[in-house]
Amino acid sequence: MCGIIGVIGNAPVTPSLVEALKRLEYRGYDSAGVATLVNGHIERRRTEGKLVNLEARLAKDPLPGTIGIGHTRWATHGKPSERNAHPIATDQVAIVHNGIIENFQELKNELVAEGRRFDSDTDTEVVAQLLTSNLERQMSPQQAMGKAMERLRGAFALVALFTGRHDILMGARRGSSLAVGHGDGEMYIGTDALALAPFTKRVTYLEDDDWVVLTAKGATIYQGQTEVKREVRQSGISGAMMGKGNHRHFMLKEIHEQPSVIGDTLQTYLEPATRLVTLPALPCDWTKVSRLTMTACGTAFYACMVAKYWFERLARLPVDIEVASELRYREPPMSENGVCIAVSQSGETVDTLAALRYAKAQKQTILSVVNVPESAIARESHAVLPTLAGPEIGVASTKAFTTQLTVLLAAAIGAGRARRNLSREEEMRLAGALIELPAHINAAIGMEEQFRWIGQEILADARDVLYIGRGSSFPIALEGALKLKEISYIHAEGYAGGEMKHGPIALIDEMVPVVVVAPSDAVFDKIASNFEQVKARGGKLVLLSDAEGVSRLGSQAAASIILPRVEPAVAPILYTVPVQLLAYYTAVAKGTDVDQPRNLAKSVTVE
Ligand code: G6P
Repeated sequence: MCGIIGVIGNAPVTPSLVEALKRLEYRGYDSAGVATLVNGHIERRRTEGKLVNLEARLAKDPLPGTIGIGHTRWATHGKPSERNAHPIATDQVAIVHNGIIENFQELKNELVAEGRRFDSDTDTEVVAQLLTSNLERQMSPQQAMGKAMERLRGAFALVALFTGRHDILMGARRGSSLAVGHGDGEMYIGTDALALAPFTKRVTYLEDDDWVVLTAKGATIYQGQTEVKREVRQSGISGAMMGKGNHRHFMLKEIHEQPSVIGDTLQTYLEPATRLVTLPALPCDWTKVSRLTMTACGTAFYACMVAKYWFERLARLPVDIEVASELRYREPPMSENGVCIAVSQSGETVDTLAALRYAKAQKQTILSVVNVPESAIARESHAVLPTLAGPEIGVASTKAFTTQLTVLLAAAIGAGRARRNLSREEEMRLAGALIELPAHINAAIGMEEQFRWIGQEILADARDVLYIGRGSSFPIALEGALKLKEISYIHAEGYAGGEMKHGPIALIDEMVPVVVVAPSDAVFDKIASNFEQVKARGGKLVLLSDAEGVSRLGSQAAASIILPRVEPAVAPILYTVPVQLLAYYTAVAKGTDVDQPRNLAKSVTVE
């Protein structure tokens, strides 16, 4: 969703603003813009669509200035258009904003009654108008910002540029993330460390309700009227991590990175010599935990679904799972000694954060599985189990999902051991299977040509595709369908194989491919029956299995992929890779925008 950057220094800033916006493209957006001060006046360039449009506008109509702000907008209030693109400005102030001002209508009514004229359909404009109204009441920019913060409701991150003030940029956050970058004679403010990576590794993460005054030499941070100190941290993100390498898309690069990032994650959670799980110190005693609640959104929710099978089977722990956007409003009673695990790549997803806060208010111990350790979800948890996936740029999650699964399986093994449900031999066997996993994933990636062929010849022309799986392969069927619809725009549904006969089988004909996720495991015979039922109705089957499964069913499939035979507990992690590659090559065959699919955002910071 929206990305923010601000730069204050002594050299022209527009190239830096555009460079940072490129780093924020991954979040998803539909318009973009920059504003600087030119001879003390706010000057803007804004365009609908991708950054190339903004670059073309800037080439025609360059924007000088040594202080400026930039924005990529994912439309919420008001359609994507130049008029609604940020920076939103009055003659006094220009604003870039991420989030939603929930009381914007009430504020707008007041401001209109004051005689102010609005030029856009955005909620953001109330902030610009409110600041302007405060400035016209002879407040300083600092006073104007402090007062405005008192009036705003909702989650937001803001950066403001003031007419005639080459010496300051101001930022504020509540809910949405905002970070200050410390340079040498130049200071930066942006959505995250990725946006700041081209300029500096020295980063200060602002806390909720902080507001900040930046000069070219430093930053002063306030809460209300009180100055506060925040740590300057060294960001681990390097410029090199942000490139596509030799790959055509970030998504493909990130699929290929899975063996190495799963290996890195395992180094943190497993002791290879003893084959024992090594979890960080957790603020919960698994023997006393009465119930586990897991919550997340999108792909991360499917990680919770898989983990439910693991925690139930390996730790004999009752598990509730629910998408965060429902959990947060359902107000379920939660048991004493309960643990809640929030799973999120970005650690920023607003619904997941709200569900976490609800569980915390219900006195649950909060653990989070996140990829961004400085994120709000990480900071509000009692303990963090980090995934070591590195920055994920493709909007469709790949390596973040498989590392989430890896961490959750290690956690379920740890809980199983603590609850004396797993013998040492079993733990060693499971740990051994995890250790071998990167090699098996490599083997799956090595079959890329076959995925390309299936994508091009079987899936790309379909109008609908079904994915089926049973047991812990069911969430992988859901993830396969989600990946396909996200990036190829083909309608796809995931189903538990046993549910086919309760509805979806009515759709089966030779035009509807059915992808069957079927490792040889305890429910293989059951999924084999579902396979036969589809075949009997003329369905076009794509079988994902191991040599044994393919030898039983492969002759009846339109295409089969033979994956390495693995311990069933790790199969969901391995079988994710083929569904990723099927979606990827289908999207490539269709020529869609793989890394930035239409309407989707990477970090969902609004409800
Ligand atoms: C968006 C992304 C998905 C992601 C979901 C949850 O929908 O496009 O890839 O799974 O948000 O994001 P999170 O950062 O909380 O994992």
